[in-house]
Amino acid sequence: MTARIIDGKAIAASIRHDLKKVVDEMKVKGERIPGLAVILVGNDPASNVYVRGKRRDCEEVGFKSDSRSLNATTTEAELLGMIEALNNDPTIDGILVQLPLPEHIDPLAVMEAIHPNKDVDGFHPYNVGRLVLRHPGLRPCTPMGVMELLNRTHDSLLGMDATVIGVSNHVGRPMALELLLQGCSVAATHRFTNKTEEYVRYADIVISAVGIPGLIKGEWIKPGATVIDVGITRDANGKLKGDVEFEEASKRAGWITPVPGGVGPMTRVSMLQNVLYAKQHFHS
Ligand code: GUN
Repeated sequence: MTARIIDGKAIAASIRHDLKKVVDEMKVKGERIPGLAVILVGNDPASNVYVRGKRRDCEEVGFKSDSRSLNATTTEAELLGMIEALNNDPTIDGILVQLPLPEHIDPLAVMEAIHPNKDVDGFHPYNVGRLVLRHPGLRPCTPMGVMELLNRTHDSLLGMDATVIGVSNHVGRPMALELLLQGCSVAATHRFTNKTEEYVRYADIVISAVGIPGLIKGEWIKPGATVIDVGITRDANGKLKGDVEFEEASKRAGWITPVPGGVGPMTRVSMLQNVLYAKQHFHS
């Protein structure tokens, strides 16, 4: 078997195209356009790249983009004050504070300060709680993007066995919850799991979100399984690598995401979808 490739880059581009159409219609009707505020504290080079990408995405779909770069010495109180002002700004539907933050700022305090209805990362405990309770509101972007890929490639996920490798707060844990919500039986494995290989061999859907290149061996993949690789690591030659041995896994899987060009673009576009959702459900 040779796996079919799930082209996240193309799917994300088509979603951005649809978002732009919605925004164009809003403009024709004289409605306010969706607005996103992105706050970057400090000068982390990777964060700079991500934030530039988010600004570009906003321009492409026609959202208002309010991008703020703050000095690394900005205090937590100053940042919270800015968030409070944005919470009360009627032209802003989403607030995203780029992580990681400098050591002296508590990321949980920052996530909790963002109004849940403007939390387009889906990181606020209220939104995480809604997902746990099976009433999702604004959803964490990477798992949301992965579900979009799965729903576009499967008629139904009901009854499928899914294994999620990696249980981070922002990806692995909400990923497991999203799969449960769609009727999968879910195994969530982590650094203390003794038999990750066995959980992977059993799975109809394998989702790896660890950040260790080659962790998931191609020969572990059940024939016909769907493989979603969230991991993205730069190797010594500067090449981007996923967690899964792509060549070997492709010989066994039914569907597989590439790295890059699989999950990454979907994370970005899911955030844009959240901005539109926030405007339409909470701020119209
Ligand atoms: N840093 C890296 N990825 C993300 C993300 O998705 N959201 C935020 N807020 N910070 C990040």
